[in-house]
Amino acid sequence: MQIPHFVRDDKICKLRVMQQERSQRRLLSSEISVIFMFMPDDSTPDGSRVIVHPARDVRGVVRIPGDKSISHRYAMLAAIAEGTSRFQNFSAARDCASTLDCVAKLGCEWKRLKDERGDDGAIEVCGVGPLLEAPTQVLDCGNSGSTMRMLSGILAGQPFSSELCGDESLSRRPMARIITPLFEMGARIEAAEGGRPPLIIHGGPLKSIHYKPEVASAQVKSCVLFAGLFAEGETVVEEPIRTRDHGEIALRAFGAEVERTGNASRIVGGQRLRAIEAHVPGDLSSAAFFLCAAALFPGSQITLPGILMNPTRARLLDILIQMGLKISVAHLEEHQGELVGTIEARGTAWKGAVIAGADTAALIDEIPVLAAVAPYSDGGLEVRDAKELRVKESDRIAAVAANLRKMGAEVEERPDGLRIPGGQHLHGAELDSFADHRIAMAFAVGALRAEGETTIRGADAAGVSYPAFFEELETIAGR
Ligand code: S3P
Repeated sequence: MQIPHFVRDDKICKLRVMQQERSQRRLLSSEISVIFMFMPDDSTPDGSRVIVHPARDVRGVVRIPGDKSISHRYAMLAAIAEGTSRFQNFSAARDCASTLDCVAKLGCEWKRLKDERGDDGAIEVCGVGPLLEAPTQVLDCGNSGSTMRMLSGILAGQPFSSELCGDESLSRRPMARIITPLFEMGARIEAAEGGRPPLIIHGGPLKSIHYKPEVASAQVKSCVLFAGLFAEGETVVEEPIRTRDHGEIALRAFGAEVERTGNASRIVGGQRLRAIEAHVPGDLSSAAFFLCAAALFPGSQITLPGILMNPTRARLLDILIQMGLKISVAHLEEHQGELVGTIEARGTAWKGAVIAGADTAALIDEIPVLAAVAPYSDGGLEVRDAKELRVKESDRIAAVAANLRKMGAEVEERPDGLRIPGGQHLHGAELDSFADHRIAMAFAVGALRAEGETTIRGADAAGVSYPAFFEELETIAGR
């Protein structure tokens, strides 16, 4: 089947506005309205659980907070730029607050501002130029792998030592992938056993490298390119599979020259960055939860204004269209090199898909929610080449399989993926977020079509990327 592309190879291709006869609206056996409740729960470490009741459909408009990947990069680059940067729609994620906390400990002042709608969604960051202040405290990255990995690239080029730590989940995550290139560039890095956090980075003069990472990772690419700003000569990162390019785009927005040929990105050291004003596009990975919720119910209709349409992220839309969701994109614009558009989505039949190879890398953050709704599809879902999912905020392959099984689903767990047959009927159950934001949100969506109520323990994890998620889902769930 020919997969329609909205955006391909950095060019806006002809948009297809898809029309389809409204399909017969199928009411689910349970017609109980959706209720989300945050309940105190002493048995989970973060003391929160949410109860999700089935829905009939989803409808409405959701304003998705700013993209997390872009917000991290903007905050870090603004810190080492000259002048004051301002960002509208900066991500509300706890992860991005960790980045802001770290840059503040490195001598960079920032504050929240009222945005265009009078909310606290904007920030101002006073750049201090390339040389930050030596921190007097440990830099706590919380749950955020992006903060630790990308900030390390900047810290490697600073004339001081700094220590980065994280929460329990981050302390289990692999850091050798950034330690290896930064060591080759001349930084000395101490880590816990197995190359895990905490990290102590002894920064200093760096030399450029041509780095070919084994793992396709945008965080690693950004880390090395950020370090490349401080290195003598030209640093090249040549990826096995092309990953999201927000690092390159943000560096260019701040005035640096970054070239890309094929899968190789290059930067010459010593370039100075200038402050910018930017509007952060809505996070497509957060939008994915609402798109998958719409896919669950024929007749659903949602509008998501101002969403990131970067081609390295928008593969999700192709796959959703292939699976049967009717999607159109309007009001395409470019903000600081990033494409933005308004997504309209309508639920119809929900077909299956196989996600493998480069698609797996492109959809890595969306696989949990695609998996949570897969049992209700006609053809199910097969995910291959996804062993990276085992080292995310949780082991997402195991977490998805465990929760689906609790809901009565048949699921095959593989070392590097999952196979979930379609056409299944699931029941509500008591599920765990595994302290992972994407697992908490994915199963709140999947629970909308289950028979009976579902409890998600540790639901507060959602705040790591999307603090208002459950309230927003409630506003669109059909009663
Ligand atoms: C991200 C890259 C991906 C993604 C993460 C955000 C980024 O991680 O899973 O949520 O902002 O660059 P990897 O770089 O580990 O693939």
